[in-house]
Amino acid sequence: MTLQTNEKRLLDNLHTLRTFTDTPQDGVTRFSYGTQDARAREYIIKRAENCGCSVSIDALQNIRIGLPTNKPGRKTVLSGSHIDTVRNGGWLDGIYGVCGALEVLETLAENPDSLKDASFNYELVIFAEEEGSGFGSTMTGSKFITGIYAEADLDKLVSDTGMSLRQTLQSLSPYGPDGKTIVYNTGGLSQEALQNVRWDFDQVQTMLELHIEQGPVLDREGLSLGIVDSIFGMRVIEVTLTGVGNHAGATPMTERYDALCTAAECILAAEAHVKTDDDKRTVVTCGKMDIEPNCSNVIPETVRFSLEVRDKDETKIDRFMNEIIDLIVAIAEKRQVNCEIKEHSKSSPLHLTDRLIDAMSKHAAALDLPYKVMDSGAVHDACMIAKYAQTGMIFVPSINGRSHVPEENTNDADIAAGVQFLLDTVLHELHE
Ligand code: GLV
Ligand code: MN
Ligand code: MN
Ligand code: MN
Repeated sequence: MTLQTNEKRLLDNLHTLRTFTDTPQDGVTRFSYGTQDARAREYIIKRAENCGCSVSIDALQNIRIGLPTNKPGRKTVLSGSHIDTVRNGGWLDGIYGVCGALEVLETLAENPDSLKDASFNYELVIFAEEEGSGFGSTMTGSKFITGIYAEADLDKLVSDTGMSLRQTLQSLSPYGPDGKTIVYNTGGLSQEALQNVRWDFDQVQTMLELHIEQGPVLDREGLSLGIVDSIFGMRVIEVTLTGVGNHAGATPMTERYDALCTAAECILAAEAHVKTDDDKRTVVTCGKMDIEPNCSNVIPETVRFSLEVRDKDETKIDRFMNEIIDLIVAIAEKRQVNCEIKEHSKSSPLHLTDRLIDAMSKHAAALDLPYKVMDSGAVHDACMIAKYAQTGMIFVPSINGRSHVPEENTNDADIAAGVQFLLDTVLHELHE
């Protein structure tokens, strides 16, 4: 069974969605539950409804869209990703996998004959709040889908502006900018509504996520396709250092308890320590920091920063993180600065489904596509789903390995080839 995706339609969709940003001159900024999110939802939902598809939105605002030919009681092959971005992010992270799965949906809807002998249904899924840009925790929608998050987390997850996830969901109004298309479920957050967010994994046959690689491997090696076998785990801590604020001119260097200098020493110590890693795969990042009072002429009194360690080996993640925590405590003690460390979040490394890795590798080889089986340094909603259902991931190259920045890009030919490969894989799965 072969069908052809429509490259022009795919690229048109991606280019239109690229304009739904709060920062038009500086990458894509589209946070979950905001105005640009509503525009993107409306655009995708309208396209799906034009092909007769049915749309369901859960209380966390994850979306599932099914083909009109789907039959009740059959298991489902799902594909999709997220539409939210980091601040000033790229135009492909997440939305590429959504537009790819939408292109598969539109192609299948146009070719109902291709589904005559299908054993399974096909659905597009859009996971809400994957990046954690709003509430500081990645994969939020899929964590509710799998039950890792439950009702209490609606209050624990709070944005930088002090709004909890519960308050944010309660403040949504149902319609997109056209005032007609329902883009949010405003049915409330009752126990029953939250229970309905959980997927019945007995009904899930396969989950496939198409994504840009976000790293340099495929581009550097001149390959057009990656088939993901494992995904890095991560452990995130939040460190709060409290020194003594004081006058920046009048306080001698020997009488300072500077929280920012202490933070700088801690972060550099963490970097130096992780660089001792034998296979050079463990990574450590401090990407977020708040300084108080953040005035040029006041010695910083309080500094709060995030620190995350990632690897595909959980024992290495824990060993490095525990050693980094010891280093931070020792540095703070030496500088007589108070130190509080809170565990923030954690996800385990995982291996995706061997049957899918083998089937996709065979297909890529048959097509003579230059590909490799590789791991993913970034986390994805597929990580959550993979614990409960057969899950596969397809990567396309990121030019110069840039991602989470405005420069993020992929060649049109690679964009199109990845989506065609997704369609081929979906068709194969539908007829398993
Ligand atoms: C999500 O993009 C992550 O890997 O942090
Ligand atoms: Mn992503
Ligand atoms: Mn991302
Ligand atoms: Mn991500």
